[in-house]
Amino acid sequence: MTTLLTGGTGFVGKNLIRRLRGVTVVSRTPEAARQRLHHEGLSDHLDRVIRWDSGLNAEDFEKVSPVDSVINLMGESIAEGRWTAAKKAKIRSSRVDGTKSLVTSLIQSGNLPRVFISASAIGFYGDTGESIIEEDAPAGRGFLPEVCQEWESATAPLEELGVRIIHLRIGIVLGRNGGALKKLVPLFRTGLGGPLGNGKQWMAWIHVLDLVSMIQWLIEQPVSGAVNATAPNPVRNLEFTKALGQAVSRPAFLPAPQFAVKLALGEFANSLFDSSRIIPGVALSHGFQFQFADIQSAIQNAITK
Ligand SMILES: NC(=O)c1ccc[n+]([C@@H]2O[C@H](COP(=O)([O-])OP(=O)(O)OC[C@H]3O[C@@H](n4cnc5c(N)ncnc54)[C@H](OP(=O)(O)O)[C@@H]3O)[C@@H](O)[C@H]2O)c1
Repeated sequence: MTTLLTGGTGFVGKNLIRRLRGVTVVSRTPEAARQRLHHEGLSDHLDRVIRWDSGLNAEDFEKVSPVDSVINLMGESIAEGRWTAAKKAKIRSSRVDGTKSLVTSLIQSGNLPRVFISASAIGFYGDTGESIIEEDAPAGRGFLPEVCQEWESATAPLEELGVRIIHLRIGIVLGRNGGALKKLVPLFRTGLGGPLGNGKQWMAWIHVLDLVSMIQWLIEQPVSGAVNATAPNPVRNLEFTKALGQAVSRPAFLPAPQFAVKLALGEFANSLFDSSRIIPGVALSHGFQFQFADIQSAIQNAITK
């Protein structure tokens, strides 16, 4: 029985592979993926790497031994590059069409998994101000909430066939060698970090090691539907900034005004000013234990070599 993983060469995917055995990775560039994962010392964790080319090749897919679980993490990066019309189309189609195609291939091959865990994001909720948000909150408005809704809906055909589906609404992932901190730490080390705007917006974050523990835990837990993958203690942007400044021993005072960030980053900048006071209601009520529940310990661990 294998775990089928898309997005296995990414930041979260590599951390997950480290915890698993017999993983089949689906990649757009299988040879490069094999080399990259070998370089990371992950070869022993792999069963095989198969090609993803806007759809799974049905024959390749039938060769994959029975699939126990599918972890679907693929998606065009949201934080890299300006959101031109073409970039937004890629952000959407890599997730929505990609997931639809994966679901169709699974159904056509008759190789149905026991559980399908699909990435989504806290962007589902949009800007929710001071409200405390659990999984039953409605979707927000705008580009990211729409993409997240379509991304989640793409798994419906599998759900109808009785496969247990989880939509993991992931917060800002903190960890070594990837995600938000990879960009922020050098900025803060040079003293250029600072709060975004007035810094009052809430940030829902999770340490990557807790995220991969949660994925492993969800493979076995009888949980389905939306699951917020965020730490139990979201923080205001000011508090996040202070914790990161302290961790790199560089106090961070210089606020970055919204218009300047928008000028530099384009439309993506708006999401940095959205407030997300999100709580992992489902994980907590089912007894999931976080290793990093407070922002100081998470950042400290993530920046320690
Ligand atoms: N990191 C975060 O803070 C965060 C927060 C919320 C949600 N998420 C979601 O969690 C998932 C994993 O995040 P991550 O940080 O590990 O992402 P990542 O490092 O950017 O990796 C994503 C993987 O998806 C594949 N991919 C990239 N562009 C693609 C495209 N245009 N079409 C199809 N596949 C493509 C790539 O694999 P190959 O090149 O091997 O095909 C890549 O390794 C993503 O879906 C992301 O949206 C992440």
